[in-house]
Amino acid sequence: MKNIAVLASGRGTNLQAIIENIENGSIQAHLACVISDKQDAQALERARKHGIEAVYIDPGPKKTWLIPEVEQRYVQALQDRQVDLVCLAGFMRILKKPLLTAFAGRIINIHPALLPSFPGLDVQRKAFEYGVKFSGCTVHFVDDTVDGGPIITQTAVPVLDDDTPDILAARILKEEHRIYTEAINLVLSGKYKIDGRRVIKIS
Ligand code: GAR
Repeated sequence: MKNIAVLASGRGTNLQAIIENIENGSIQAHLACVISDKQDAQALERARKHGIEAVYIDPGPKKTWLIPEVEQRYVQALQDRQVDLVCLAGFMRILKKPLLTAFAGRIINIHPALLPSFPGLDVQRKAFEYGVKFSGCTVHFVDDTVDGGPIITQTAVPVLDDDTPDILAARILKEEHRIYTEAINLVLSGKYKIDGRRVIKIS
């Protein structure tokens, strides 16, 4: 059984979907820990409720990234628990060398837009205001670009005339909860190859 970890900064609905899908057997993995950069993250509370180790690691002085000494503490926590796959689920920090080197090819992220459109933050609103007719979500490998690593899976949802950004975000979130599990299963199975930027399933 492979060990996974979830890094989350906020409310943790993607985490919740992962926990439930582990509990019902849709993901065959052990959730070794949930780590947050926010002491009061709802995600940590959700983990504790399910008997999963919830770890807060002080993020240090920077707002959007971790200085190397701090990022190394995240690496150590993950290595101590022999984590095979790191799943970012609303972890609002850009990863840098310590994590990307220690877990090369083993960190994935979910993003609430159809990348490469709308990288960054508050993207459901940005897509809505841009006037796109479809948006969606993307699970991708994490590399040293912002939301730019190879795409594992995506799904599209329509943007309807009477939507609001919140309604659109909720429609996307429902799909996030579904496709993150699919992506985790694919990566854990190892049944893929990466050809340039293309993640291709193999049987
Ligand atoms: C999700 O919509 C996730 O895609 C997004 O944060 C939200 C976290 O929600 N992530 C990003 O925007 C990363 N760039 P959750 O805490 O309920 O899972």
